[in-house]
Amino acid sequence: MASENDLRLGVNIDHVATVRNARGGAYPDPIRAAKLAEEAGADGITAHLREDRRHISDDDIERLMDSLTLPLNFEMAATEEMREIALRHKPHAVCIVPEKREERTTEGGLEVAREENRLAHYIAPLRDAGCRVSIFIAADPRQIDAANRIGAEVIELHTGAYCDAIAEGDVETRDREYQALREMAAYGASLGLEVHAGHGLTFDSVGPIAAFPEVKELNIGHFLIGESIFLGLSDAIVEMRRLMDEARGAPLRTAG
Ligand code: PXP
Repeated sequence: MASENDLRLGVNIDHVATVRNARGGAYPDPIRAAKLAEEAGADGITAHLREDRRHISDDDIERLMDSLTLPLNFEMAATEEMREIALRHKPHAVCIVPEKREERTTEGGLEVAREENRLAHYIAPLRDAGCRVSIFIAADPRQIDAANRIGAEVIELHTGAYCDAIAEGDVETRDREYQALREMAAYGASLGLEVHAGHGLTFDSVGPIAAFPEVKELNIGHFLIGESIFLGLSDAIVEMRRLMDEARGAPLRTAG
């Protein structure tokens, strides 16, 4: 059941594919996880087709497009190959992320300001095809202004440094990152951009970010898939949703 308040939860299923690929077989199947996520209250599914195909595969994207009823947020690097794939499938949203082959995960936001011209031309056909274009960036006014100028409809603020600071007990960094996210969520919304946030969010870190009224969507993956080992995927999603609703001050929804 999708949520009734104005904060959506996008469940990122990449790491179901990571576990599958560790053995090279067919299970666990990320599409099965996507269907379970939908039943548990996700509002969307996020999947990142990396250039090295380390988790999600081309076939996963095809199957998601064929069988999902929820909107797909397709994360990709700004390459010609990825744009061709996106234009073939026309997912609900395309989120442009930076990608380095040697990194373990998406470590920072996209450098939009330095690549403004190229990115403006790059995203135009995606928008023309009806995809909502989102840009994954740091909470930095220069990047937000540039994302706005190139014609993005959505920005997703990178919460990784904030989450790391919580995990490490680094209060000073946590507070600085929190303040930057809070101010930049408001700034992005004031320009007319839809503001999303994600990366590294856990039960411990989600509340303060979910409480920003300007944030309309959180995309959460690694923690939920990890926690599903202990709680099961449905219960992990239900608990995340509950914490989001609680932080938002939304009336808690009853199951059914
Ligand atoms: N949002 C974006 C743009 C991402 O690249 C990722 C990671 O793929 C996430 C959200 C989810 O991050 P995590 O898996 O750490 O929850």
